[in-house]
Amino acid sequence: MTNSKRHILNGYGNGQRLLAVLLLITVSLTTSCGGGLQSALNPAGPQSQHISQLWWFMLIVCTVVFVVVLGVTLVLLVKKAQGSPDELPERESAESQRRKAFIVVAATAATIVILGAFLVDSFLVGRGLTAALDRKQGVVIEVTGHQWWWEVRYPDVDASSIFTTANEIHIPVGVPVTFTLKASDVIHSFWVPNLHGKKDLIPGKVSTIWLQADKPGIYRGQCAEYCGHQHAHMALWIFAEPREQFDEWRRNQIQSAVKPASDSEKRGQQVFLTSTCVTCHTINGTSAGANIGPNLTHVASRNTIAAATLPNDRDHLASWVDDSQQIKPGNRMPPNKFRPEEMQALLDYLQSLK
Ligand code: CUA
Repeated sequence: MTNSKRHILNGYGNGQRLLAVLLLITVSLTTSCGGGLQSALNPAGPQSQHISQLWWFMLIVCTVVFVVVLGVTLVLLVKKAQGSPDELPERESAESQRRKAFIVVAATAATIVILGAFLVDSFLVGRGLTAALDRKQGVVIEVTGHQWWWEVRYPDVDASSIFTTANEIHIPVGVPVTFTLKASDVIHSFWVPNLHGKKDLIPGKVSTIWLQADKPGIYRGQCAEYCGHQHAHMALWIFAEPREQFDEWRRNQIQSAVKPASDSEKRGQQVFLTSTCVTCHTINGTSAGANIGPNLTHVASRNTIAAATLPNDRDHLASWVDDSQQIKPGNRMPPNKFRPEEMQALLDYLQSLK
């Protein structure tokens, strides 16, 4: 093969690569960003609506500015290219100087007006975010960020109705929800783009954010502040449900854990209560009452484990219990080398905790 041929083929490869990258960007814009379960461009509540309107406004204005600037630059370049290179520039007439000065002043004025419009709109959106909901009513949920999972507590005036879960938050649709946010170790950030912007969780400080989901659905959230090794594996889900469905879920969560029914489940409970599991986890209705790891009272009612890292099925649960360090290195759960019989019984028990 000649050098020139190789050259052409290389160029063709680069072109293809560029095309693939463009395609990837388009796909990710139209799926994950545009219409996905975790997308600020797919607003499902009043606050995210405000934020996405601001985003579109800025995008459209900036695109127009970009196209105009590029267009003018191109026209000038073409004009310059058409002129003869040897020609000396004529002395500028007063008229031409005035015209140029006018263009500079007009462009500066346009810039100030555009930035002013952005400022005013951002301010109005900020006001809209706080005014959109009356936070005195509705549901209150306490979220505590841990490395690397979310503790979720539903407080209640009736102490027997308080319960704690992890990583999966259920809320009723059309009702304002107040989140009080805390952190136990380092700074995390609570971000569910379909519903609201980001809010930091700061150790030693309680911050508040309130939001509302107008459309039922499942919305993915993500820790949005780098918080260590497994920051990327610190996700959460919000399930926005009709009121009756939410109340039903809540009634179930308030209950103590179901008693083990089969022999294997009984054996599994015994394994749980006599191993290191109890030094970190709580299962209400048993002697396990530690608060270092997620509350497992209704672990089988959740769809995911490990902060929305893995689906909550038997195989993944088994790998997680056996050696979670292989999956999410650095997390606080040590490997647990159970005998196969113990492991199967433990899985039976954990999977019965609906
Ligand atoms: Cu928690 Cu990043």
